[in-house]
Amino acid sequence: MNIILLGPPGAGKGTQASKLEDERGMVQLSTGDMLRAAVAAETPVGLQAKDVMERGDLVSDEIVTGILSDRLDEDDVKEGFILDGYPRTEAQAHALDALLAEKGMQLHHVIELEVDEDALVERITGRFTCANCGEGYHDTFKRPKVEGICDVCGSSNFKRRPDDNAETVRTRMQEYRTKTAPIIPHYEPKGLVRRVDGMADIETVSDAIAAILDKG
Ligand code: AP5
Ligand code: MG
Repeated sequence: MNIILLGPPGAGKGTQASKLEDERGMVQLSTGDMLRAAVAAETPVGLQAKDVMERGDLVSDEIVTGILSDRLDEDDVKEGFILDGYPRTEAQAHALDALLAEKGMQLHHVIELEVDEDALVERITGRFTCANCGEGYHDTFKRPKVEGICDVCGSSNFKRRPDDNAETVRTRMQEYRTKTAPIIPHYEPKGLVRRVDGMADIETVSDAIAAILDKG
């Protein structure tokens, strides 16, 4: 099964995608993670994307679509994938239609995480991840079971994203409102859009997503 998780910064796309990976063997395709890896490796794409991401603006459609297209050619995605952070513009939604048709793949659900924007700044400014394995945490909502130690790999190194500050978050939300939310009508006529209350706690959100996937 192939799905899109849609929602503003901090809606819980990454959190839920990683649970779906663990619980269902689906593959998380996060264009944000792919771009951050390119920035860290200082590849040509990473060098172009770094400042754009730090400002909270969107990276060009050509760059992200190119990265995603290459990733969709890898074997593991045949087990089913979760698009986390793509598509984000109307041009990307059309590009995705073309990519999936060309690769003989189908979309089964577009799941929108509905959230209250006021809560998102707190979610984002409190977020941190394990620097070793990437497990995601939150200062208030998801602390490691043993303080300072990653639940998954035992590392004591954690990191925060450079774009996770209150000012950049406002720009990222504005980008979502003006460029990404308008792609939802693209999927309505196809009957693919499902809505989930993203303000519920993490387990309740994942139960709601599981109920959608279990229906087929
Ligand atoms: P990206 O990495 O995609 O960031 P984003 O869309 O801003 O979303 P986030 O990762 O911030 O939020 P999330 O929904 O994954 O939330 P999370 O689960 O971590 O993109 C970053 C940048 O890359 C963009 O700004 C752009 O520059 C570029 N980019 C990427 N894709 C692009 C594209 N397609 N086109 C152009 N540019 C692109 O949750 C947040 C926190 O809240 C966590 O700490 C978590 O523990 C906590 N939390 C999660 N769920 C809950 C809950 N239900 N209750 C309480 N706390 C919760
Ligand atoms: Mg994310």
